[in-house]
Amino acid sequence: MVFAGKLSSTWTAYFAALSTLSGLIAPAVAVKEHDFKKCDQAGFCKRNRAFADNVVAAGSSWETPYKILPETTSFKDGQFQATVLKTINAQGETVKLPLTISFLESGTARVTMDEEKRQKKEIELRNDSKARKERYNEAENLVIVGGLTLDKDAQLANEDKTEATVKYGPSSNFEAHIKYAPFAIDFKRDGVSQIKFNDRGFLNMEHWRPKIDKPEPEKKEGEENQEEKKEEPTGEDESTWWDETFGGNTDTKPRGPESVALDITFVGFDHIYGIPSHAGPLALKQTRGGDGNYVEPYRLYNADVFEYILDSPMTLYGAIPLMQAHRKDSHVGVFWLNAAETWVDVTKAKDATNPLTLGIGAKTNTQTHWISESGLLDAFVFLGPTAQDITHKFAELTGTTAMPQEASIAYHQCRWNYISDDDVKDVDRKMDRYKIPYDVIWLDLEYTDDRKYFTWAGDMFKDPKSMGEKLDEHGRKLVVLIDPHIKNVDNYHVSSELKSKELAVKDKTGGIFEGWCWPGSSHWIDAFNPKAIDWWKTLFKYTAFKGTAENTFIWNDMNEPSVFNGPETTMPKDNLHHGGWEHRDVHNVNGMTFHNATYQALLSRKSGELRRPFVLTRSFFAGSQRYGAMWTGDNQAAWDHLGASIPMILSQGISGFPFSGADVGGFFGNPDKELLTRWYQAGAFYPFFRAHAHIDSRRREPYLVGEPYLPIVTAAIRLRYSLLPAWYTAFHQAYVDNTPIVKPMFYTHPSEEAGFGIDDQLFLGDTGLLFKPVVEQGKESVDIFIPDDEVYYNYFTYDVAPTHKGKKTTLAAPLDTIPLLMRGGHIFPRRDRPRRSSALQRFDDYTLVVAVPRQRGGGRAEGTLYVDDGDSFDFEKGQYIHRRFVLLTGDDSAAGQRLVSTEAEARPDAGKVKEGKWLKQMRDVHVDKVIVVGAPASWAGRKEVTVESEGKTWTLGMEYVPAEGGRAAYATVRGVGARIGADWTIAFA
Ligand code: NOJ
Repeated sequence: MVFAGKLSSTWTAYFAALSTLSGLIAPAVAVKEHDFKKCDQAGFCKRNRAFADNVVAAGSSWETPYKILPETTSFKDGQFQATVLKTINAQGETVKLPLTISFLESGTARVTMDEEKRQKKEIELRNDSKARKERYNEAENLVIVGGLTLDKDAQLANEDKTEATVKYGPSSNFEAHIKYAPFAIDFKRDGVSQIKFNDRGFLNMEHWRPKIDKPEPEKKEGEENQEEKKEEPTGEDESTWWDETFGGNTDTKPRGPESVALDITFVGFDHIYGIPSHAGPLALKQTRGGDGNYVEPYRLYNADVFEYILDSPMTLYGAIPLMQAHRKDSHVGVFWLNAAETWVDVTKAKDATNPLTLGIGAKTNTQTHWISESGLLDAFVFLGPTAQDITHKFAELTGTTAMPQEASIAYHQCRWNYISDDDVKDVDRKMDRYKIPYDVIWLDLEYTDDRKYFTWAGDMFKDPKSMGEKLDEHGRKLVVLIDPHIKNVDNYHVSSELKSKELAVKDKTGGIFEGWCWPGSSHWIDAFNPKAIDWWKTLFKYTAFKGTAENTFIWNDMNEPSVFNGPETTMPKDNLHHGGWEHRDVHNVNGMTFHNATYQALLSRKSGELRRPFVLTRSFFAGSQRYGAMWTGDNQAAWDHLGASIPMILSQGISGFPFSGADVGGFFGNPDKELLTRWYQAGAFYPFFRAHAHIDSRRREPYLVGEPYLPIVTAAIRLRYSLLPAWYTAFHQAYVDNTPIVKPMFYTHPSEEAGFGIDDQLFLGDTGLLFKPVVEQGKESVDIFIPDDEVYYNYFTYDVAPTHKGKKTTLAAPLDTIPLLMRGGHIFPRRDRPRRSSALQRFDDYTLVVAVPRQRGGGRAEGTLYVDDGDSFDFEKGQYIHRRFVLLTGDDSAAGQRLVSTEAEARPDAGKVKEGKWLKQMRDVHVDKVIVVGAPASWAGRKEVTVESEGKTWTLGMEYVPAEGGRAAYATVRGVGARIGADWTIAFA
């Protein structure tokens, strides 16, 4: 303790200096809601909302200025092309907007519209700008990794001078009905409209125009000038066209107004989801006022939002412009591929024209209005019909979840900051002393020497190498923070290389951009530049970043990017990136490029070493799932923030980036012990499970929580560890096809309408485990929604929950109880032996838990296990085990009462795979215990089971415990002894 005292006084002094310093360098730290734009403070958003209002006000007299020129249309190899003419003034002048509608083999349609003048670079830039003249057309290069093959079978079903119809998709049951004048598209499935583009006439592609200096006000009185005024293109409000100032920062807008906006209507859909990240409910709300609605559109403009507020459409740190609409048994979606600042308005309207749809919301259309500041119009249309279809098709385009480091799905211990290598070792020791498992300990900002990344604060981190080795004794990992801002000082090789190699983001003049972040004056790596990525790789070599080792991984923070003295705490939009693109065009994908650079760097730390990277990112875009995990940023130690974490994580899951979590305990503030305990219980069901805390918060490592909380928190973490095989299996599915790791009710039960708005509970993978956290102080029960007629058993007691399909049931949940049910019909794997880390569980035997379905006589329970070495890429060469378990309880014959393990995939070569070291070790890993919950009453008198595997047969004792009170009967077989990787059968009769 003497040592700790000494340490803390040193540290207190350091903090005193630090907070003075951060007061100086971080003026924007006290950001509040008004520091971020509202729609009417962002010129393009205001203009487009006004445009929409004018269209609505004009009613039937409104005519959209966008028309397809019939003589320009063509259809070839799955692609419809045409020129859209936009009439820009009363004189009938037009601009040409080349349109391509691509029909992809996957059944996805893609609509792209560009601006001819800018394609041909026939425009002039203002203010001597060095920016590119084209509309930004490279988002695709960063985001899309596949799925663009054209559907050669798509057919032009008919075309005349006014419209064309293309039939496409599986069994040609999709249809794009393209209307020429006014230009609009109606996407149908089985003859029924699902999604309409420009149905309301809000399409608005602001074309390039030269700035015409206005006559002096006094001249306006002359007749000549009045005529001149009449000749102004549209008489629109130009006040936000040429430059805009917000919070003291002026955007010089060298290309003038250039927004792209479109109305997209989901016909007959009442529920829409997606477009994370927002701190609000999973089902998106309306945004144009009214009872309980928002008044601002959902905003997508990645930003470092200090102390974000809940139930708000305000932007957060990352953006995925994928929206999905759901109604009973039908699901469709739109992916708006645009990396610029984007706002989305949502309204609902009764639809009298669509009597064909059935069920709740049948007569409701959800109308959306997408508004982006710049770039192409580029939208992908998914016609479902299931949510899984959209997941898979979106994954085909943007990629799937990276196969994780096994440790990264276990428990992470973080705070800002562990202050020295001794502190780290001390936490490590104490976690062991209190028998609390953990896998990863994190170092925030202060491990560096003066906030210079790739260096160590030498006085506090005297021997990082031995710290890493100490952690490695239990297979544990270290994560250190590396941000994209590089301290602008002399004698710092990272800074001098960044400058001399010209790899930094530039300002509007083409000079190196300088701004303020944690280190004070800084420059930012431009990770859009492939050469910058090459350079970034050199910095992570073990030989370069001394003190790091194989068990060091990386945290990328502040990559929106956060710039303390920048507009809205980020970069000026007229900054320039590689290729001459303005920051405006690429802002939302910026964070992903940095995340990618770090991911690539970890892959190349040492030649010949190929290990899975783990990189946590704060900022993200569509595609970020390929590089690691995200978290929901700086939440607060408050009950409502605990509650908000569940819909936010569910939204990430269905939107293509399922490896997500929230700071357990809450970042800002000090949670009381009850809140902290409940947060651990919830966090154990986040895909990314990390405790984190602000530098000013009190220490709150789980062993500090005291009685009676300590065993409860420990039990929650241990529950995560025992279920790691199930989590890993779910992650593998996310790697295969990006299936959400935790799923909302509409996703698993698409016909159960009462579940469409439920967003405070989740299913874990395909395990049938249904979890609902307690998120209210003093609450000792939860009302959990039951989406079907299946039987649900209490995970811990095997009690059968009293349930009714489509209704909530109350579960007791005193502080020491996690509300967790097992849905009948599932089998999931566990490892029950408590260990210090996941690495130490690696060769432990398995427990299989079988939840017998309600339906006997053909009743069947099923589940899978996927396992590999958790670290290398050998799984790509067949070094893995993937089993399917099926329990049949159909009849009382021996054949009908079996639990069978078989290969989960059709792997004809499985037997031929040469076993590597890991697979060889797995030969000694067996099924230990099988627990059959809801075991048939006919098993009552039985004492034995027969196991058959690899040509051998043996008998084992079975313990059958009959049903009692509300508890289901269950049977346990111990020491099964069949190898986990082999085929086997357990016969219960
Ligand atoms: C902001 C991050 O959101 C937070 O998690 C981190 O602790 C601080 N930056 C300091 O690096």
